[in-house]
Amino acid sequence: MSVAVEIPPTVREELSPLEQQRVLARVRLLLQEQDAVLVAHYYTEPGLQALAEDTGGCVSDSLEMARFGSRNPARTLVVCGVRFMGETAKLLNPEKRVLMPAIDAECSLDLGCPPQPFADFCAAHPDRTVVVYANTSAAIKARADWMVTSGSAEAVVAHLAGQGKSLLWAPDKYLGDYVRRCTGADMELWDGSCVVHESFNSLELERMRQRYPEALVLVHPESSPQVIAQADYVGSTSGLIQAARELHSDTFIVATEPGIFYKMRQAAPGKRLLSAPVAGRGATCRSCAFCPWMAMNHLSRVAHVLESGENEIRLPADIIERASRPIHRLLAFTAAHPA
Ligand code: 13P
Ligand code: SF4
Repeated sequence: MSVAVEIPPTVREELSPLEQQRVLARVRLLLQEQDAVLVAHYYTEPGLQALAEDTGGCVSDSLEMARFGSRNPARTLVVCGVRFMGETAKLLNPEKRVLMPAIDAECSLDLGCPPQPFADFCAAHPDRTVVVYANTSAAIKARADWMVTSGSAEAVVAHLAGQGKSLLWAPDKYLGDYVRRCTGADMELWDGSCVVHESFNSLELERMRQRYPEALVLVHPESSPQVIAQADYVGSTSGLIQAARELHSDTFIVATEPGIFYKMRQAAPGKRLLSAPVAGRGATCRSCAFCPWMAMNHLSRVAHVLESGENEIRLPADIIERASRPIHRLLAFTAAHPA
């Protein structure tokens, strides 16, 4: 089933250079005082990513964000991303305090997969192994056998298909379709999508490739099949950064959220990195390739949650027990099958 999702406007924080310096200094002090560390996604604003790197935190894709909290000794994890990322950190580290600068930062995949319809979907396919994408709530993970991320989905699904299992997949239909085509697995798909990646336009991309014939195309697998079909490389955010560094081209067209350019420029200095075209312009553009929820992670909100202790992720004990199982299964799998 498909659930309509409302997209909020993308609101960035405008700080003067002086205010920015003050907030940065305050956050650095609070992180030390509170034995806290920043765990940031590549789609957050560059200033936050730089701060996370500079203070011993992490900037990564959702798989590494999940791993980092358990490896790092800090007592408090400040998760700069969207809500499911904070929940995953809490599920894996229930003894730690997990704060989110933007606890109201949702994800269209998570919003588009509510617990009751999902339970009905599972009940309609009782013989299928339930595989859910990381971009889901803890309640959905509690109903799942496996959790996967974009960086691990293909390997896990190939492994399960190799055991003769039929799968139920939720919520991203595009990633599900891509993995199904790569592996040949028998997969029943939920009808969900990422409003950001869905906005990349395949016809405009064809035109852009004609204008830049030397460019290689890097695509996140939450994009439509018509966009994926034009890719020279398909992968997770970490995979895309690695591809920009390693592939032999000086120009790349990149179909993912533009926040990634901060780390991609560091990884591939001197290369030309172009955003893939989106459907619509100005007012007709649904998200203009920006994730409006990731943009809620303002620097001053980081200072505020550390000062106030607000926005702590709290989950019921039974949900922690059930929802952490499919994540631990994934982490054990990736440890045994390094990419
Ligand atoms: P990655 O795991 O590739 O970072 O993807 C997370 C995400 O939300 C992409 O839209
Ligand atoms: Fe969710 Fe898409 Fe934003 Fe990623 S980019 S957090 S999938 S809405």
